[in-house]
Amino acid sequence: MTKLKNDRYLRALLKKTLDCTPVWIMRQAGRYLPEYRAIRSMAGDFMSLCKNAELSSELTIQPLRRFPLDAAILFSDILTIPDAMGLGLYFKEGEGPKFQNPITCKADIDKIKLPDPECELQYVMNAIRQTCKNLEDTVPLIGFSGSPWTLATYMIEGGSSRNFSKIKKLMYTEPKTLHLLLKKLSATISKYLNAQIQAGIHSVIIFDTWGGILTPCNYNLFSLQYMHKVIDGLSTENDGCRIPVTIFAKNAGMWIENIAETGCDAIGLDWTIKISDAKKRVGKKVAIQGNMDPSVLYAKPQRIRKEVEKILENFGNGTGHIFSLGHGIHPDVSPENVSVFIDAVHELSKVYHSK
Ligand code: CP3
Repeated sequence: MTKLKNDRYLRALLKKTLDCTPVWIMRQAGRYLPEYRAIRSMAGDFMSLCKNAELSSELTIQPLRRFPLDAAILFSDILTIPDAMGLGLYFKEGEGPKFQNPITCKADIDKIKLPDPECELQYVMNAIRQTCKNLEDTVPLIGFSGSPWTLATYMIEGGSSRNFSKIKKLMYTEPKTLHLLLKKLSATISKYLNAQIQAGIHSVIIFDTWGGILTPCNYNLFSLQYMHKVIDGLSTENDGCRIPVTIFAKNAGMWIENIAETGCDAIGLDWTIKISDAKKRVGKKVAIQGNMDPSVLYAKPQRIRKEVEKILENFGNGTGHIFSLGHGIHPDVSPENVSVFIDAVHELSKVYHSK
């Protein structure tokens, strides 16, 4: 299938047989690691890390030196696209991402030029090429993008938001204007992910972090429909290998049947749904990623192992499960507990793959 030394992650996504369940962690390169904090404090700001291929590659690989993870995820961010569209991304200490020029009206959307992935976003492709070289075919490299809806929330709110009042106001007063933005984003995201595939990534994730704040009807109209368009625009093969696509769906457990219809290979779940329930509902169609509460990693080793066991038992026998947290790892978790977690997944899952 691939020349990777460890291809468990890809095999689980494509539902091929396994020796044990693969595991990776959202934000596995991040502030809980002292070696990340050291490089971060040298570089000054987060985006200069993303824009430097050597540093991005180094940070991508840092967690793999410590832990036997089954995948690497590119050190970058979903907000590279709005930045390349001219919105002026910056990070304010303790406040998360912000934009200098958020979208305020239709004219702002008309003005947006679709970025060329090998021009304005070339630094991302360079980071991928560098990381592939440095990984030496050990594990797959995951590429990613935000969903059109999730990117639009940051672009219109001007940063993170509590109640999403600006984008929801636009949705209810000028839906056509919002659709215009979502169309531009969908086209850009497909091109961006195709360029990532060409640059060497082995699998892609579409992060729909904020789809779960919508009504069922608006979810279909403003989020799901556009993720479907993104996936329709992907060339999911490179060098004769399939490039599986995962949709990470936060707070969207009630809509997984619809998500499974988009053509994705896997659905990433948060911790608010039982994985056995998800398997029953969509397990024939897609693989399932998840779904331990990230706060479990604050617990003592024995309790972490117990929680891992619960999820493995809940999923039951066979392939099609990628173990992960339901959202990003908290910055104040101890790396020792992460080690306990990863070892528990590998050890305790063996029996579920022996038949
Ligand atoms: O290790 C990895 O998972 C890969 C790198 C990665 C980052 N962001 C690095 C990062 C990935 C996959 C993302 C995705 C991302 N970024 C999402 C989707 C997933 C999710 O979290 O729901 C979203 C919504 C963003 C936007 C974003 N970037 C926010 C809201 C923040 C601030 C929140 C925070 O944790 O501080 C960021 C900054 C960011 N992206 C950091 C990292 C490691 C922290 C930077 C730092 O201060 O060192």
